[in-house]
Amino acid sequence: MAYKLLFVCLGNICRSPSAENIMRHLVNQAGLSQEIICDSAGTSSYHIGSPPDRRMNAAAKVKGIELVGEARQFQRSDFEKFDLILAMDKENYRDILSLDRSHQYKDKVKLMCDFCTKHNLKEVPDPYYGGSEGFNQVIDLLLDACEGLLNYVITQEKLANQS
Ligand code: 4NP
Repeated sequence: MAYKLLFVCLGNICRSPSAENIMRHLVNQAGLSQEIICDSAGTSSYHIGSPPDRRMNAAAKVKGIELVGEARQFQRSDFEKFDLILAMDKENYRDILSLDRSHQYKDKVKLMCDFCTKHNLKEVPDPYYGGSEGFNQVIDLLLDACEGLLNYVITQEKLANQS
C-alpha cells in the first residue's frame, strides 16, 4: 500500500497545491511515485473547482514546477484516507483538528514547517493578498519542507532500497 500525503491550506489554490506538486516532483525524482501519493485540499469552500492561482503558478514555474489541480474542500473522510495531513499554518491545523470529533487523528496532522531544515518560519504565510515576493517565499519554504518531509517518510516507512 502506498503512503498517502494530504497538504492542506485555506483556499487550496496557493500553498497546498504548491506543496502537492513540489512534493510529487521530488517523489518522482526519487523514483518513489508508486510508493508515495500526494493530494491537497482547503479548509474553506471558497475556491472549490478552481485551478491553482496564476501568481502561484508563475512562482513555481521559475523552479521548473507546473502546478496542476482543482481545488476541493477537506472532508472528515480524509482523516481515514491519508497517512499524514500537512497543515500550512496554525489556523489550518486548528480547523482540521476541529473536524476530528472523536480525537483519534491528532497524530496524523502536522505543521508543514516542522519539516524545514533551512528555514526558521513556523508557518507558510498566506500569500493571497500580497505581492510576488510572498509567492516566491512560499515556494522556497515548501522546497525546504518537502525535502525534509520526503526524508522523514522514507525513513519512517523504510522505503529506501525497497523498490
Ligand atoms: P491558500 O491561499 O490558502 O494558500 O490557497 C488563499 C487563497 C484564497 C484566499 C485566502 C488564501 N481567499 O481568501 O479567498
